Amino acid sequence: MRVLGLESSCDETAAAVVVDGEVVLSDVVSSQVAIHRPYGGVVPELASRAHVVQIVPVIEEALARAGLTLDGIDAVAVTRGPGLVGALLVAMQAGKALAFSRGLPLCGVNHLEGHLTAVFLRDVDEPPHPVPAFPHLGLLVSGGHSTLAVCRAPGDYQILGATRDDAAGEAFDKVAKMLGLGYPGGAVVDRLAASGDPRAVALPRSMRGRGLDLSFSGLKTAVSSHLAAHGRPTGQALADLCAAFQHAVVEQLLRKTLAALDETGLRELQIAGGVAANSHLRAAFTEALSRRGVAVHIPPLRRCTDNASMIAAAGYHRLRAGERADLSLNAVAGLALGH
Ligand code: KG4
Ligand code: ZN
Repeated sequence: MRVLGLESSCDETAAAVVVDGEVVLSDVVSSQVAIHRPYGGVVPELASRAHVVQIVPVIEEALARAGLTLDGIDAVAVTRGPGLVGALLVAMQAGKALAFSRGLPLCGVNHLEGHLTAVFLRDVDEPPHPVPAFPHLGLLVSGGHSTLAVCRAPGDYQILGATRDDAAGEAFDKVAKMLGLGYPGGAVVDRLAASGDPRAVALPRSMRGRGLDLSFSGLKTAVSSHLAAHGRPTGQALADLCAAFQHAVVEQLLRKTLAALDETGLRELQIAGGVAANSHLRAAFTEALSRRGVAVHIPPLRRCTDNASMIAAAGYHRLRAGERADLSLNAVAGLALGH
């Protein structure tokens, strides 16, 4: 089944064609980062307008790169939430129009479920790689979400814990903004931290105990207090602060993940979302989990961040299970994982 996936939940306009939820024929992402950068964050109305401009060219490009026309598409999958409602509606309306005019099955996809499906994808010229067996533990860490869940089957999740305040990526972006590092700042903090000493600045280790929930706003406040006391650092002191912050975030994520593995007895982990691109996170998790004999699966960087191939793949499983949406399908800004 060749599924056309469409995604516009935040600041990426994306379209992809995926065969049987696994083989990516094309994966086109148009980023709006340059539009939002002057404002230090995503401006919802500007996001919606840019999606309107980009959605048709992005779909055309995805079909062209797959070597297909709409005649070669068997179904359409669109993100229905969570995300910015005005942004979500753009790909959703495009998907509805395509499905209606071509008589194709349509299905709405949870964006978080999409992230947790990205690990199963491979390019058309790439041999199959090891993928996690079900059930396994999923750690989803993106700009909007931080969640630990048991992935029981495609589309079937049991949430174990989630952030009580900021998402991990949001904390990276807000700290980067405080440090004058621009938007989005996660990758910049990561790069600077590489030459920093994480022990040079003492930051709190938050959420000791407290089950499997996460929290990053206290850490962000600690960085803000450090800046108030010492001023905005430069040079080595900046690298040290970035390293200390990054270590504190990763330490909390790792501690909670290990607790979740102990609690569930699961032996495989996948890490999804934009923060899975973090180099310290990748190294620390791989090292700590290999010592425990737990297999860690992390998608390549381009599939950690928002894209539409993950939406097409998650849609494929829903379509195969018989799910069909009609034209009453609507965007749900606060859609939770498992819905
Ligand atoms: O998954 P994603 O593309 O979008 C959402 O669905 O939210 O994640 C974007 C987030 C941003 O907060 C960005 O700063 C963060 O991922 N990010 C990183 C890195 N690369 C991207 N955070 C830490 N280290 C990185 N290398
Ligand atoms: Zn995302």
